[in-house]
Amino acid sequence: MWMFTAVPILSNDRDWRRRSPRARPRTKLWSRIEASEMMPVVLLSDLHVDHSQNMSFVRELCSQTRNEAIIVAGDISHNFNLVEETLKLLSSSYRRVFFVAGNHELWVQGSQRGAGTAPSSIAKLEELSSICETYGVFDRPHRLDSVLVVPILSWYDLSLEVSASADLFEGFERWPWTDFRKCDWPSELEDEYPCLGNRYPSGVASSFEAKNDPMLEEAVEDMKEAETTSVLTYSHFLPGTFALPDWLKPESDVFDPAWFNHPAPQLSAKFSRVAGSSSIENQLRRLTPYADEHLHCFGHSHRPKDFYRKGIRYVHHPLGKPKERKMFLSPVHPLTKTVFDQRGQQVSAPTCLRYWESMMKGSDPLIECK
Ligand SMILES: [Fe+2]
Ligand SMILES: [Fe+2]
Repeated sequence: MWMFTAVPILSNDRDWRRRSPRARPRTKLWSRIEASEMMPVVLLSDLHVDHSQNMSFVRELCSQTRNEAIIVAGDISHNFNLVEETLKLLSSSYRRVFFVAGNHELWVQGSQRGAGTAPSSIAKLEELSSICETYGVFDRPHRLDSVLVVPILSWYDLSLEVSASADLFEGFERWPWTDFRKCDWPSELEDEYPCLGNRYPSGVASSFEAKNDPMLEEAVEDMKEAETTSVLTYSHFLPGTFALPDWLKPESDVFDPAWFNHPAPQLSAKFSRVAGSSSIENQLRRLTPYADEHLHCFGHSHRPKDFYRKGIRYVHHPLGKPKERKMFLSPVHPLTKTVFDQRGQQVSAPTCLRYWESMMKGSDPLIECK
């Protein structure tokens, strides 16, 4: 196993982060990406701490010092104060915290900061980045010894829409997808579309893709220099149709209508229009050729997944909402999921394609709008 040796790690790296988050030491001289020693890495997405039960879980999680890095793949809350409180709690407990925004973070209403409404979703994204800076939370690449961690900021477009029969999409213009009401995008990133508000944010995914470019280039340069690298990318949104809750054959690019053989195929079909973007997969695959192994973690659907596809392991490990846990849709026992151990080795787990079926031996669609 390759170990970098350029500059010794500070004896207590938690202290310098608290003292001066804006002036972190460089531990590796030949890359612009900061590095630190290896530590176990755990995942969690979709914390939705506006549910008091979820906030209690986070408080409990952070009530002790954790010798781990945690990846938080979006959807902490729409409420800025709660996002800040959660990131503060996590960074006081975990050795490293990695975060990327989800759709809930970019709602402009109910922000409860300043005037209570953010000026726009883009402005809120920038403010989130400054919150990350304040608490030493990473929203940029960072190397944990042989594991390079890279965030992928993302949104959805229509590229994951399943080729299901048209009647399943009927009534999409009335479907109460809250983002359509609560996000506020520049007009050039939206197009007329038969959805709530008649505007679909078609250009947001590609605009975020452009924001990721410098980080991905930096990551490639970093990986070219390293002798051994595992890469862990993370996005909030789904990277491909193969990650949709109902998709049963990750290796297949073709949708099988039989996978919608449950009581609410309309919800599954509609969700595919707000699930993610194939541009995420294109971006993360730019790093794969330079990696010995690649793990991508995502959030958003609240339906756990763990599978391999074309050489990459994909994991979705949400906290989800209390109601979803009760219905065996999200992990019943809220826990983080460990994906790398202290030595930088991947921690394997059973394949998971439809958690609810393995738990209930039944079938279940998406049950509610998020
Ligand atoms: Fe969520
Ligand atoms: Fe989400």
